[in-house]
Amino acid sequence: RRVILIGPPGAGKGTQTHTLATHLGVAHISTGDLFRRHVGGRTVLGERAQTFMVRGELVPNEITLATVRNRLAEGDAAGGFLLDGFPRTVEQAVFLQQLLRQSGTGIDAVLEMHVEEDEIVRRLAGRRTCRECGRSWHVEFDPPRAEGSCDACGGALAQRDDDREEAIRRRLDLYEQETRPLLDFFRERGLLVRIDARGPVAEVGERAISAVGTTD
Ligand code: AP5
Ligand code: ZN
Repeated sequence: RRVILIGPPGAGKGTQTHTLATHLGVAHISTGDLFRRHVGGRTVLGERAQTFMVRGELVPNEITLATVRNRLAEGDAAGGFLLDGFPRTVEQAVFLQQLLRQSGTGIDAVLEMHVEEDEIVRRLAGRRTCRECGRSWHVEFDPPRAEGSCDACGGALAQRDDDREEAIRRRLDLYEQETRPLLDFFRERGLLVRIDARGPVAEVGERAISAVGTTD
């Protein structure tokens, strides 16, 4: 299966992708995680990407498209993938469709995670992200067993650079301007499935699995 996950910042994409990708038996690919790994490793790409990310701006296509193309060329993506954070613009979606067409495949489903803005702000304000594996936790809604340390890998938790008020506002604006038109793009192609992303993490996960989780 080749599935795309779309939702505003803080919708819970990262939280759900690990279980969803495991359930589907496909590779989990998050452009945000890929960029954050480059930033952490202080690569040239990471330094360039960071200047956009801290402000909540989109990383330019010149960097983003090459990153995605390289990642999709890795062996584990051949059998299917769950893409989180890409595409985010119609231009990126067209690029992805062309890339997949070259290998005789295409997108099977696009899952939209829907949440209201006030909930988004509460989620981002209390988010703590693992520096090692990238998994997100929430001080109130999804706390790790030991404060400040990741349940999944034991790594140290920290607040993300772009979870500051100004950057959050910019990310939300860009979602409305650039990413929302994509929903129509996929709806017209009969690929869009929408779920309510409010409620406990496990319940949202069940909705996500029943929306796109068939393994045929
Ligand atoms: P990216 O990492 O993709 O960030 P984002 O889209 O802003 O999404 P988030 O990671 O903030 O939210 P999420 O939906 O994953 O929420 P989470 O599961 O953590 O991108 C970051 C940056 O990279 C971009 O701004 C851009 O600069 C660049 N970039 C990435 N892709 C790009 C692209 N294609 N083109 C150009 N630039 C790109 O959940 C949030 C919090 O809520 C957590 O604390 C979690 O514990 C909690 N939570 C989750 N589910 C629930 C629930 N059901 N109930 C209560 N709390 C919950
Ligand atoms: Zn971790």
